[in-house]
Amino acid sequence: MVQNFSDFQLIKGDCNAVIPRLQEKVDMIFADPPYFLSRGNGTVKIGNRYVNFDKGDWDRVRDNEEIYNFNYNWLSACREVLKDEGTIWVCGTYHNIYAVANCLNDLKYKILNMIVWQKSDPPKALTNQRFNFSAEYIIWARKTDNTPHYFNYELMQAMNNGVHMPDVWKLAAPGTWEKTCGKHPTQKPLRLLYRIILASTRPNSLILDPFAGSCTTGIAANLLGRRFIGIEQDENFISLGNRRRNEIDDAVKAANMLKRMSENPEEVQVIVNHARPGLQKMMIDKGICYMRAGDSHGSVLVTPGFERIQYVLLHSNGHDAKLFRLKRKGCFQIWTKKSLEEIGFNPEHAAYYMVFHFDNTNEIPFSQNPKLRQGLNTYRSKVRPLSDFIGLN
Ligand SMILES: C[S@@+](CC[C@H](N)C(=O)[O-])C[C@H]1O[C@@H](n2cnc3c(N)ncnc32)[C@H](O)[C@@H]1O
Repeated sequence: MVQNFSDFQLIKGDCNAVIPRLQEKVDMIFADPPYFLSRGNGTVKIGNRYVNFDKGDWDRVRDNEEIYNFNYNWLSACREVLKDEGTIWVCGTYHNIYAVANCLNDLKYKILNMIVWQKSDPPKALTNQRFNFSAEYIIWARKTDNTPHYFNYELMQAMNNGVHMPDVWKLAAPGTWEKTCGKHPTQKPLRLLYRIILASTRPNSLILDPFAGSCTTGIAANLLGRRFIGIEQDENFISLGNRRRNEIDDAVKAANMLKRMSENPEEVQVIVNHARPGLQKMMIDKGICYMRAGDSHGSVLVTPGFERIQYVLLHSNGHDAKLFRLKRKGCFQIWTKKSLEEIGFNPEHAAYYMVFHFDNTNEIPFSQNPKLRQGLNTYRSKVRPLSDFIGLN
């Protein structure tokens, strides 16, 4: 079955045959090829669980020469269809990643990074003879040595607490919310594709995935306003990919998925606080944001995510929002009304206040509409992920 949406084209076939027939050059390629891990040993019992280590015939173990030739062929087809300023991301483990790197070099791509995807919840290994496997590798390369490529450095830095994003990314495996249409044995997490797509493409870019599987790349691409072409040889996975694409035609489901995809549980949080204009200015002048500590008894309810607060966003009734980094991650102090009065504030509502110290010398630019006017909640301080403010451009 071939099904077309205007921004999503899924083609059934062998990528080596399909890629040369593509009509348009692409801006970025994400490829999750066979790692050649499967030995036909099927299900293995680990503790009380049965785990299936056999992914299918497409992943069957092969010798080094076959692995090199396989990778050389599809990488060479990809190079033809990639724009000169385009980039390619290729996933692997030690089983295939050396062959991929050698082919990339032999085909005159230029390797930019080897990303380590550190799994926050890795499955337990079959043996105690070596360390537990907890990472996969993703090589990022551009087409040529000399044509510059696109990298949204500023956005990646902003998503990483203002510090240059490193090449080790800690992310969980796909959750059940990503498997509502069925399962693929080697499905990648949407959060991985979210970062990759934002780092290396602009809105409306065309992204190719030659080993589409369940179409994680296509779903992330469309949710982020990018166009997608996927190639997959297995009819069952083609159906799964189309079901996933149909699912996000529902605007509410798409909005939920986009939100979840942008929320890395490891992610940086922002304390969002309203203050009337004069007070907001004074807070910024002093690098101090305060808010009433808890309820009428003064108890502070510290909600999950608090420890990951790294920014404060100050606004006045939804307007004039300004973002700053805290001096210390996840840290606040409890001050009395009197201590605030001593430095010139005039707090009126409580005896105790939570005080956050931020770096007032460096206002952080942010790109998204923060949607701060939310009815009754406008005035309440909230903890929100940084991706609500920085992330989709
Ligand atoms: C590692 S999986 C990709 C999983 C995908 N990233 C996801 O998130 O669902 C590789 C997929 O490539 C497909 N495949 C293997 N060889 C292929 C080929 N030569 N052409 C097209 N698809 C192929 C397999 O059927 C499998 O679904």
